[in-house]
Amino acid sequence: MSKKLLVVHSSARENRSLTRDLAQTFEDSWTASGGGAVAHRDVGVNPPAIISEAWIDACFTDPAERSDAQNAVLAESDELVAEIVDADVIALCAPMYNYSMPAALKAWFDLIARIGVTFSFDLARGDVPIEPILSGKKLVVLSSRGEFGFAEGGERAHLNGLDPAIRASAHYLGADANDMETIAIEYQEFGDARFDESVAKAQARTKDVAAQVAA
Ligand SMILES: Cc1cc2nc3c(=O)[nH]c(=O)nc-3n(C[C@H](O)[C@H](O)[C@H](O)COP(=O)(O)O)c2cc1C
Repeated sequence: MSKKLLVVHSSARENRSLTRDLAQTFEDSWTASGGGAVAHRDVGVNPPAIISEAWIDACFTDPAERSDAQNAVLAESDELVAEIVDADVIALCAPMYNYSMPAALKAWFDLIARIGVTFSFDLARGDVPIEPILSGKKLVVLSSRGEFGFAEGGERAHLNGLDPAIRASAHYLGADANDMETIAIEYQEFGDARFDESVAKAQARTKDVAAQVAA
């Protein structure tokens, strides 16, 4: 059976977005390589709700005991989680905003991290009480940055609050953080030959990775 892809956009830009360009390359290569159905979630254009006290209370209420109002509060989260459950591969478009992820993408992660749904918590497990519930998903991060040197060992690695945050939350998506792929354009704000080279490299890698994971 062919695999299913979920593309998550989080650039606030609908036009001139480098992460959206990478996603298009990914999707084209995926389809050309025999990948199956593609679903889209655009939190850049339609940001999810920020979690509230009512949302947290609803999460920690036994599903059998939840009121209609509590189920309504969880409806958006249920929909976002269902999209993850349905996907084999997740292409997460994550531009760097203020050295971290766009707030809309953080809101998406907050709605997806659900006790009893995407993770379980049990102090009987000692100092590692959290265990993911989902598994077997492949996570590909398609990113872009205005500056450069954010990769491990780079001159701005210590400022990178984006990649570590995604890595830490990958298990909520059922993805193995050690097996995730991150492709990032750098130098966007410089617009020079280094930027052109970075775009070309990221585009080529995106095409290759999509072909690999579609098979
Ligand atoms: C609101 C905003 C904040 C940004 N903050 C950073 C930053 O902290 N570091 C950086 O290197 N680039 C930063 N940039 C540059 C973006 O990472 C870059 O423009 C990237 O291409 C955005 O992704 P997009 O092209 O898909 O919209 C920022 C851009 C915007 C619009």
